[in-house]
Amino acid sequence: MNALAATSRNFRQAARLLGLDSKLEKSLLIPFREIKVAPRSLLSPLLSSPRRRPELDSVCLLSISGSFPSQVECTIPKDDGTLASFVGFRVQHDNARGPMKGGIRYHPEVDPDEVNALAQLMTWKTAVAAVPYGGAKGGIGCSPGDLSRSELERLTRVFTQKIHDLIGTHTDIPAPDMGTNSQTMAWIFDEYSKFHGHSPAVVTGKPIDLGGSLGRDAATGRGVMYATEALLAEYGKSISGSTFVIQGFGNVGSWAAQLIHEKGGKVIALGDVSGTIRNKAGIDVPALMKHRNEGGQLKDFHGAEVMDASELLVHECDVLLPCALGGVLNRENAPDVKAKFIIEAANHPTDPEADEILTKKGVVVLPDIYANAGGVIVSYFEWVQNIQGFMWEEEKVNMELHKYMNSAFQNIKAMCKSQDCNLRMGAFTLGVNRVARATILRGWEA
Ligand SMILES: NC(=O)c1ccc[n+]([C@@H]2O[C@H](COP(=O)([O-])OP(=O)(O)OC[C@H]3O[C@@H](n4cnc5c(N)ncnc54)[C@H](O)[C@@H]3O)[C@@H](O)[C@H]2O)c1
Repeated sequence: MNALAATSRNFRQAARLLGLDSKLEKSLLIPFREIKVAPRSLLSPLLSSPRRRPELDSVCLLSISGSFPSQVECTIPKDDGTLASFVGFRVQHDNARGPMKGGIRYHPEVDPDEVNALAQLMTWKTAVAAVPYGGAKGGIGCSPGDLSRSELERLTRVFTQKIHDLIGTHTDIPAPDMGTNSQTMAWIFDEYSKFHGHSPAVVTGKPIDLGGSLGRDAATGRGVMYATEALLAEYGKSISGSTFVIQGFGNVGSWAAQLIHEKGGKVIALGDVSGTIRNKAGIDVPALMKHRNEGGQLKDFHGAEVMDASELLVHECDVLLPCALGGVLNRENAPDVKAKFIIEAANHPTDPEADEILTKKGVVVLPDIYANAGGVIVSYFEWVQNIQGFMWEEEKVNMELHKYMNSAFQNIKAMCKSQDCNLRMGAFTLGVNRVARATILRGWEA
């Protein structure tokens, strides 16, 4: 089942539990606006037009589908002078609770269905976290590693030129995602500001020097740690004294590992694309960070032994943290999972079949729409700081993040109790109910 089907299925189950009427259910599922790619052929007449302007080194086409812009193609000159075309998407799912919010990813396999699912997930996630946003997601189909810095800058600026009137501080606020980073956000901010004046709050995840928030880099991993702490406490356990297995050692995984280590948790196995390692006595995470920051690969780390990557997710442990890809827990490996708790730090790591198997086995799964919400919560803090023209200290950012994560967990628990459901449905019903209420209050349900 793909991400869109799985997300829509969870939404429908939540809508049924909440007793939403079918008209409202349908209207909550349909994206507000989708911006997709135009076929390359549509660009040809433009490219050969005698009226072509000199700045045709950056051509984009926006085509309209129905009343909404539907397709964007970005063509840029590469450093060698040849033209290259890339396709871009932005799905704006819902804005009943506030401006839409979601990442922009640069990846060769960016696909409209997945972007749609992730936009929808953002709507429920921002509602679960109680930040005043809706959901969106976007991306450009490209391999960022194959593009030079100046090509990436041109591509980002062209994409921004084409969507600048569809995003905005109070409309839709992009953030970094796979293949994009704070520099990408700096380019979007700069390009957008050429049209609309100085607008730092149009994107989050910016460099600190341009209005980024202290604590944003660690926020998702820190939120994962707070979520883990809250869940374990429910079962009379704590991070200290528990064992952890972590898949992914990028932004989320490495911060989660460091913070769990600091809290006395024992990270006994860990893997990324460069290798998978284990140490029964606990991996020295700060030493591993140093090794990685010096360019070392996981498999060459001296403080652990190399293991087979396929054994990582089914390794004995108390808590499993998938912090890499979607769909990694499936019907093939779910029966062999030995963890008692799974914290979904990655987006959509558990497919619905695995979810059922894990539930039957009694494994407690903390869902992604809550577990990895720390990033969007601190993005919200960044936006607030930009609008206020004021910078918070990191301590305040972390303290507020803790409050938001704890409060969301208590609200999910209350929903689990009132709806007699598991944590995933508790989170979905919490998010969907908040969006449904806002939709009805605004008179949009018809
Ligand atoms: N960064 C955020 O703020 C944020 C917020 C919410 C959700 N997420 C989600 O968390 C996940 C990780 O995001 P990130 O920002 O840490 O990405 P990242 O690119 O920084 O790190 C990804 C990590 O996954 C590893 N990886 C990739 N393929 C793998 C494989 N087959 N086996 C093992 N490891 C593999 C990579 O080596 C890397 O260590 C994604 O699903 C992302 O959508 C991230």
